[in-house]
Amino acid sequence: MAGEILVTGSTGFIGSRLVDTLVGQGRRVRVLLRPESRGGSSLQCRAGVEEAFAAYGDTEALGRAVSGVASIIHLAGVTKAVNEAGFIEGNVTPVKNLLEAVKRHNPWLRRFLHISSLAAMGPATSPSPGVRETDMPRPVSAYGRSKLLGEEAAQRYTGRIPLTIVRPPAVYGPGDRDILEVFKMMKNGYLLSAGSGKLQRFSMIHVDDLICGMLLALDSQTAAGRDYFITSPRGYAWDELIGAARPALGFGPLLRINLPKPLAFGLGAVLGGVAKLTRRPALINQDKARELVQDYWVCSPEKAMRELGFTASTPLAKGVAETLRWYQLKGWL
Ligand SMILES: NC(=O)c1ccc[n+]([C@@H]2O[C@H](COP(=O)([O-])OP(=O)(O)OC[C@H]3O[C@@H](n4cnc5c(N)ncnc54)[C@H](OP(=O)(O)O)[C@@H]3O)[C@@H](O)[C@H]2O)c1
Repeated sequence: MAGEILVTGSTGFIGSRLVDTLVGQGRRVRVLLRPESRGGSSLQCRAGVEEAFAAYGDTEALGRAVSGVASIIHLAGVTKAVNEAGFIEGNVTPVKNLLEAVKRHNPWLRRFLHISSLAAMGPATSPSPGVRETDMPRPVSAYGRSKLLGEEAAQRYTGRIPLTIVRPPAVYGPGDRDILEVFKMMKNGYLLSAGSGKLQRFSMIHVDDLICGMLLALDSQTAAGRDYFITSPRGYAWDELIGAARPALGFGPLLRINLPKPLAFGLGAVLGGVAKLTRRPALINQDKARELVQDYWVCSPEKAMRELGFTASTPLAKGVAETLRWYQLKGWL
């Protein structure tokens, strides 16, 4: 899609990679920066990147930020928060306020690409084919509920603003700090998981494949008013991720520790309590435990393949190897 693209959440993991890709493709980019946005980011003063400063509560500044752009990719959001209100503040209020600003200041916007999450739909009941776009949403966590509320807030503008929703599963790649924790465990010779003991499966997508799918959705005329999982061809088992990481990390047999559900919830309760007292998001609380114990975080790529011609082209082994090399070069691992 020609014309300038406004990107929110541009200082984050996916956002910074997205801006690099857009600039590399010669597209005109404007980034929305909040007062809290990380200063000194590599995006600052970059050729081809215009900056718009706005808090999501500042109607006038938001109006200026959305004015004149052809499309918006709304990536900003929070994956960790102390409580439900924190998730609403990060995942619902910004969508509402942005779309209200678009309605007033840019009614000719050609596309609003809203990045939600598999968490908004919840886990699958079987490993294949996984959750589909037509399934009933069943989020299991405060994060997932807030992402679903964000989608619903965006859908209220249907008919006035051309909206496309993209739902990624777990995203990995250079710059990610969440799955990094899993690789750190492996490097240290163990892997902690939680659940029923069934063979867990999870969809995962390399950040560059996700960006490719997002841009196909942005540029597709027929994607307006539709939603897509942009995901791997299938769900992976832990053993496949371990196998992909082993050559780069060089670990031997791993100590596998699976926390049974009651233990995971108990640990979540304790760590969640500490987090509330310290007012810092917990690594695991009862809410996160509810996500961790699910058997199948799997979604189907079929609709995106059929309608957008999207296929995640990075094999897991190659994507993981490159990511690990990046972590090692940066001294993160
Ligand atoms: N990473 C994944 O595995 C994954 C999977 C599925 C879906 N997603 C979704 O993809 C999006 C980007 O994820 P990410 O991994 O790139 O996250 P990230 O690295 O945490 O970046 C998110 C960005 O959102 C902005 N932000 C932070 N707190 C905010 C708040 N309270 N209100 C408004 N904006 C706030 C910040 O950008 P600015 O400071 O520039 O505003 C931040 O850099 C999120 O919407 C997330 O839900 C991610």
